[in-house]
Amino acid sequence: MLTKKRVLVGVTGGIAAYKAAELVSSLRESGATVNVVLTEAAREFVQPLTFKALSGNQVYTGLFGGLDPVPHISAAKESDLVVVYPATANFIGHAANGLAPDLLTTLVLAFKGPVVICPSMNARMFANVAVQHNLARLQDYGYVIVPPESGRLACGEVGQGRLPAPGAVLEVIRGALVPKDLKGLNFLVTAGPTREPLDPVRYISNRSSGKMGYALARAARDRGAQVVLISGPTSLAKPAGVSYSGVKTALEMREAVLENFDAADVVIMCAAVSDYRAKTPSPKKVKKEVREMVLEFVQNPDILEELGRLKRHQLLIGFAAEDDNILEHARRKLEAKNLDMVVANLIAQEGAGFEADTNIVKILFRNGRFLELPRMDKYEVAQRLMDMVLDMRRI
Ligand code: PMT
Repeated sequence: MLTKKRVLVGVTGGIAAYKAAELVSSLRESGATVNVVLTEAAREFVQPLTFKALSGNQVYTGLFGGLDPVPHISAAKESDLVVVYPATANFIGHAANGLAPDLLTTLVLAFKGPVVICPSMNARMFANVAVQHNLARLQDYGYVIVPPESGRLACGEVGQGRLPAPGAVLEVIRGALVPKDLKGLNFLVTAGPTREPLDPVRYISNRSSGKMGYALARAARDRGAQVVLISGPTSLAKPAGVSYSGVKTALEMREAVLENFDAADVVIMCAAVSDYRAKTPSPKKVKKEVREMVLEFVQNPDILEELGRLKRHQLLIGFAAEDDNILEHARRKLEAKNLDMVVANLIAQEGAGFEADTNIVKILFRNGRFLELPRMDKYEVAQRLMDMVLDMRRI
């Protein structure tokens, strides 16, 4: 996922410095080459040896005394991204004012690529006007600031100051490294299942977790697009930087989609919309005493088919969940719904479709072309689909 990317992790002297070990491990697992700079204060909390073992590389600790006479320039040239995790108020103050008293601050000054800064400190320090002013300044310079989380802090106080988990920062790093080639485009993405009520406590639904749709929303956002995500109920966190609308039923999803359709340039219907709903849901909880029950269903509107009739400038992309004759069924959907592209997943396959973290898809285009992607992480699938969207926009 981060193969061939070179990430430099700067660790400054905060109590959360130990979390940087996990970030370095995760970066390496994702395929990145990782170098680490520890400030003098960081070395009071963590040892260079830990980072040498985890990164598989020498750890930089100072401007002077090493074999390289200009380590700040070499490290800056050899990196695609710098992340400072955790970043103390001291580091933030120096960086915001162009001051360079040590290797890390010097290197950040010399670095031209994306810099991700993850502040972590006592909540009162974080709220201090000087720190906020410095962070705003760094943001103006184009640095990516990952705000600290709220919760119990090492000092025993409760407030905003906790370093976000390595997983969350890894996502920001991935986002910062992709080209912003979808800037200026508006995406409308649907995700998750719909729930069709039977009575106030029961419903019919399906196994969609929302993972594929959320990955699409994140991928489009990371490439610079404005994204509206319309989602059925899922247990996933709302992606940051995306305009989110939560719905429950197919009828609610239809309404939300139609509201946002005109403004969209690219529409991706990834949601698993229930084809049927109960004709007359019971207004009260159905009692167990009823020994046999016959439920009557009516068809829900096909949202994508409706969009296919309404479409003007939009690129319209559908998904197809199939358990046999994948290409034949997907082609029929492409034509019947007037789509530009359909992404078909064979849901019976291990590591594909519902709930899995990975997907295996075949993609069909209007001109008859089709291609197949091997099993890959859903975010990676989403990134490959973004490449195709870009190609189609260029034609
Ligand atoms: O959420 P995950 O667990 O990550 O799983 C991902 C997924 C399997 C749900 C996803 O990859 C996927 O295949 N989504 C589409 C599922 C589906 O409903 O397929 P379909 O073949 O029934 O529908 C075809 C297309 O019409 C889809 O784009 C669907 O959004 C749309 N549709 C369907 C019915 C309906 N009433 N209205 C619609 O708009």
